[in-house]
Amino acid sequence: MVDVILGLQWGDEGKGKIVDYFAKNYDVIARFQGGPNAGHTLYVNDKKVVLHQIPSGIFHSNKINLIGNGVVLDPVTLKKECDAVAAFGYDYKSNLFISERTHLILPTHRALDKASEVSKGNDKIGSTLKGIGPAYMDKTGRNGLRVGDLLDKNFTTQYIKLRLKHQRLLDNFNFNEDITPWEEEFFEAVEFLKTLNIVNGEYFINEKIRSGKKVLAEGAQGSMLDVDFGTFPFVTSSSTISAGVCSGLGIAPQHIKEVIGITKAYCTRVGGGPFPTELLEATGDFLRNAGNEFGSTTGRPRRCGWIDLVALNFACMINGVTQIVMTKADILDSMEELKVCKSYKVDGNEITTVPFQMNRLQIEAVYQSFAGWNSDISKIKDYASMPEKMKEYINFINNYLGVPVKYISNGPGREQIASC
Ligand code: GDP
Ligand code: IMO
Ligand code: MG
Repeated sequence: MVDVILGLQWGDEGKGKIVDYFAKNYDVIARFQGGPNAGHTLYVNDKKVVLHQIPSGIFHSNKINLIGNGVVLDPVTLKKECDAVAAFGYDYKSNLFISERTHLILPTHRALDKASEVSKGNDKIGSTLKGIGPAYMDKTGRNGLRVGDLLDKNFTTQYIKLRLKHQRLLDNFNFNEDITPWEEEFFEAVEFLKTLNIVNGEYFINEKIRSGKKVLAEGAQGSMLDVDFGTFPFVTSSSTISAGVCSGLGIAPQHIKEVIGITKAYCTRVGGGPFPTELLEATGDFLRNAGNEFGSTTGRPRRCGWIDLVALNFACMINGVTQIVMTKADILDSMEELKVCKSYKVDGNEITTVPFQMNRLQIEAVYQSFAGWNSDISKIKDYASMPEKMKEYINFINNYLGVPVKYISNGPGREQIASC
């Protein structure tokens, strides 16, 4: 049996915290896509930790954490993260497993990411510059190197061949930064990676499922950043939706039970691209400051706005979401008025669907207003204790989406969550 936790917006919905919270109910926690562009924040012994590559179940003893074939892996980031996990006193040696089919991010992928973004000028995507796009391009272009290749005696030859190919592309971009230090770090980290548990991920996970173990698949990024269904081209390069779980881990769709979608009680986006409910004035600044909305991976300020039910409805549809967890509701505690986007106005017409190429349209968000609840909800544990105004807000969202909001996260702490 496999359940999925994934983001329904443009990332940073609080997936890390929620995966860590639910991990106690599962045997295996598996990442199925993305790479070090992800930044998943958890609190362990009241200390903040941000995971980029390792699944968010690593701070539980005796849970298997699998990096699946759909991930792109930077050995340098992985090594740093393993050190951080060890510093917390947790055991990555026996609890972390990596699929041999996982593609590697090379130093030249990072260089290509940077060169490509610079060449786009004002149209840049706002990539995290972690090499994600170029690494997935080498996967679909059938050039990439995989974790299993590290164990082959010809790895260095294969590496040099691909590096030369990349160098020609970098020359075209006139990229002339010296990446020798990146390569030194890379090869050091590769030696470390070779000491970890490298497995045949698809047999490994199917054997766990067959023997009755419970698997939690942890998404990175969010549905609106999906390479097919997101706000293309302002997206990431992987399949961030529930369908990506099958190809990113090698499991059949009938194993998937619950698809748990995470949304903030409002909305944020980091990087370029359309964002119909963005607030470019004081309310946006308030959300950014109150919610500490600065990127976990790059530190960039996140763009903030009201919750967008048109986009959420779309995300529920393409993912088959069965339940919703709403995070950061506490950030709205002191607001007098809340707004919810229930349709888009495009060329004078009101629509409730996500249009093709949102970035080429003038989209005006149409809102419904709610009175704020104006009280501290950070200690609430159940629906009955929630302020009436908060119930109205949640019930409206429930009804609009036709999917139940099952949990409300009301603080960053490990146990700060209320059931509905
Ligand atoms: P992820 O990428 O989806 O895992 O999310 P991030 O970790 O990038 O960003 C979410 C941020 O919100 C982190 O700083 C979390 O500690 C914080 N957070 C998560 N849930 C809550 C919540 O319910 N309330 C508050 N105040 N902060 C939260
Ligand atoms: P988590 O898992 C928020 C955004 C980048 C950029 C676009 C493409 O923490 O939710 P990429 O590095 O993939 O080439 O960037 O996607 N982005 C994220 N935004 N959270 C993330 O991950 C993101 N990963 C990528 O800001 O706009
Ligand atoms: Mg994040």
